[in-house]
Amino acid sequence: MGITARLNTQTLTPEQFASVADIAEREAGLVISPGKLALVQARLAKRMKAQNIENVGSYIDLLTSSGGSAERQSMIAALTTNVTAFFREAHHFDALRTTALPPLLQHARSGGAVRIWSAGCSTGEEAYSIAMTLHELDPAAGRYDLRILASDISPNVLTTGRAGRYMAEDVAGVPPELLRRHFQRSEDGQSYQILPHLRELVRFRRLNLMSDWPMRKGFDIIFCRNVVIYFSREVQLRLWARFSGLLSADGWLFLGHSERLGGAAAGDFRSGCITGYQKTQGNGMARAVKERFENGSA
Ligand SMILES: C[S@@+](CC[C@H](N)C(=O)[O-])C[C@H]1O[C@@H](n2cnc3c(N)ncnc32)[C@H](O)[C@@H]1O
Repeated sequence: MGITARLNTQTLTPEQFASVADIAEREAGLVISPGKLALVQARLAKRMKAQNIENVGSYIDLLTSSGGSAERQSMIAALTTNVTAFFREAHHFDALRTTALPPLLQHARSGGAVRIWSAGCSTGEEAYSIAMTLHELDPAAGRYDLRILASDISPNVLTTGRAGRYMAEDVAGVPPELLRRHFQRSEDGQSYQILPHLRELVRFRRLNLMSDWPMRKGFDIIFCRNVVIYFSREVQLRLWARFSGLLSADGWLFLGHSERLGGAAAGDFRSGCITGYQKTQGNGMARAVKERFENGSA
């Protein structure tokens, strides 16, 4: 019997499950209910196989040890859900095209900086969909000071995003004319490579939303969709406040279809479209930081 099969016959004790759930919440904000026991067991089985560990107790010991940081990260990556798609929740890309991006492109054409963040980007489809929308509005976008930060806690998904190569079934939702303009089809037709003019707009970085953020500059648009659904309400509210502090005075925040802005930060925004919020109350801090940067004084 292989290691995976053996683990599947061992059930995590309530204490072991609690240890795993505690690490996931403390380190990544993920709330794992006891109903997810089977899923957690299956994902841990894969990690134990990768570590060549046969006994659940030994694996939990590794996770909880001071030297277990790398494995804690790998376990969290194994527990996260990375489902994504190009132009997922299409109404957000309509709002980008018609409302959010035109004034920002105007700002960029006159030499201003524009910063967009895909927070919890998974394998990059969201960031590249934003890049395609930008490029369709202005094919000179790459010549402006305009960047998309794509971040995720899981290193594996970032590797896929950086490579920018997707299987034919992954690009099925991309309109054919966009596929032609922004992807190179492989000779066998099995995969599609994002072209350099889009890749140059996107920077992939590992970033845990629960940690300190290294960004010094503010953002004009933040996408954080289908990420906080796994976080506690308390963590969500803290995150909204942090996003609000980082957004420029009239910036946009896009959330996933089952996520809603709430708490004190909700008062900083007006609803712009379904789960798309535009900032109305700014402390001006993010814009001021950006302006200092643009003037070369930061
Ligand atoms: C379901 S995907 C959403 C991808 C994309 N935003 C979309 O809506 O299609 C959720 C992503 O959030 C990431 N994630 C989960 N917890 C995170 C955290 N604490 N910090 C950063 N990313 C996190 C996961 O690794 C995963 O790739």
